[in-house]
Amino acid sequence: MGKKIRREVSNRLNQIVHSIKDTDVTIESKNKIQYSLDLRKVYAGYGKTTVLHDVTLQVEKGSIIAVIGNSGAGKTTGIRCMTAQIKAQKGSCVTAGYDVNKVPEEVQLRIGYVPQLEYLSLYYDFSALDNALFFGRNFGTPDKIIKKRCIEVMKTLGLTKKEFWTKPVKKLSGGEKKRVSIMIGLINNPEILFLDEPTTGLDPHLRIEVLNFLARINHKFKTTMVIVSHDLECVDYCNQVMVFAQGYMVDFGNPRKLTRSLPNSGKAITMRFHNLTPDEEQSIEKIPEVIYKLHVGRNTFKIFYENEASLSIIFSKLQELGLESNHYHSNCVFLDYFRVMSVYNYNKIVGQRKLEATKEEESK
Ligand SMILES: Nc1ncnc2c1ncn2[C@@H]1O[C@H](COP(=O)(O)OP(=O)(O)OP(=O)(O)O)[C@@H](O)[C@H]1O
Ligand SMILES: [Mg+2]
Repeated sequence: MGKKIRREVSNRLNQIVHSIKDTDVTIESKNKIQYSLDLRKVYAGYGKTTVLHDVTLQVEKGSIIAVIGNSGAGKTTGIRCMTAQIKAQKGSCVTAGYDVNKVPEEVQLRIGYVPQLEYLSLYYDFSALDNALFFGRNFGTPDKIIKKRCIEVMKTLGLTKKEFWTKPVKKLSGGEKKRVSIMIGLINNPEILFLDEPTTGLDPHLRIEVLNFLARINHKFKTTMVIVSHDLECVDYCNQVMVFAQGYMVDFGNPRKLTRSLPNSGKAITMRFHNLTPDEEQSIEKIPEVIYKLHVGRNTFKIFYENEASLSIIFSKLQELGLESNHYHSNCVFLDYFRVMSVYNYNKIVGQRKLEATKEEESK
């Protein structure tokens, strides 16, 4: 066989081998995708009242998810359904591979739950280790394994000294108690850990610390985490965020991608005016090139615009109006996105969803 032909045959074989490998990888990775949470058209509530409407979402294993939304939006109701504390009224809710309506006990074996208030999940007169033994035995786990797991998790949570595991929980600080409560949530090595407001009431330093510890746990044990929070800094640690409003899930996605979906990829200008009457404030909003105007401080606004040309027009129109400002360019963070959407869009989305539901009902 000539050199040229050999090379061609060898190239062709390489192509075939690679194409087989690629196909295999695709098939394998497709099969491997497993969801920790798989909700399809879920409705949930209490008695005959429906609080949560038509929620569909999938969460891949090992993700960290933030659940946010105003008070009364339905976050806790959603978590209650996903953790099999209440049934789905309609639709299917599968948590850790098990249907919450059909086999709630299987779901509860595979999840951990950290309530907002530590005293609900801890015996204060017991040590962390004794709490771990008490709760771990409920899952039928041998004492030796519970102790090993307790110490491993406590160390990962930064409580490395023996005294933290052995002294009564009541003698620990607020942040230390919170971490013991997280350890208890993890004692059965759950596939998913649900945390209700894990950072509320903690000082700013500790809030970040707790989030760092959770990220470490997620990395080490591959635990999927669902964090309900009003502190939006937690979103920075999350792969995905779900936003609830008036019982509807109005947003779901990667927080960084969502933020970049703002006009001009989330690049805005912050303007601080010296004095501003309500009429003047309205006249800024009426400039057509101003897409969104967000109040971020006294006489201070973040202005969203489409591109540099529209920014120049905004400046000249402000000059015509005799409005002077100090300004600087700013890259938006998820908090800005959430506030813009809350002011301008989420209510509209809820309105649309309600309208669609009425139409669907009427067509039946
Ligand atoms: N046990 C219950 N029985 C009847 N209605 C309830 C019950 N718990 C909550 N609700 C109602 O369901 C709605 C959603 O409540 P939910 O607790 O899910 O809100 P949330 O988003 O968790 O609010 P928050 O941020 O204040 O904790 C509210 O209107 C609330 O009054
Ligand atoms: Mg709640």
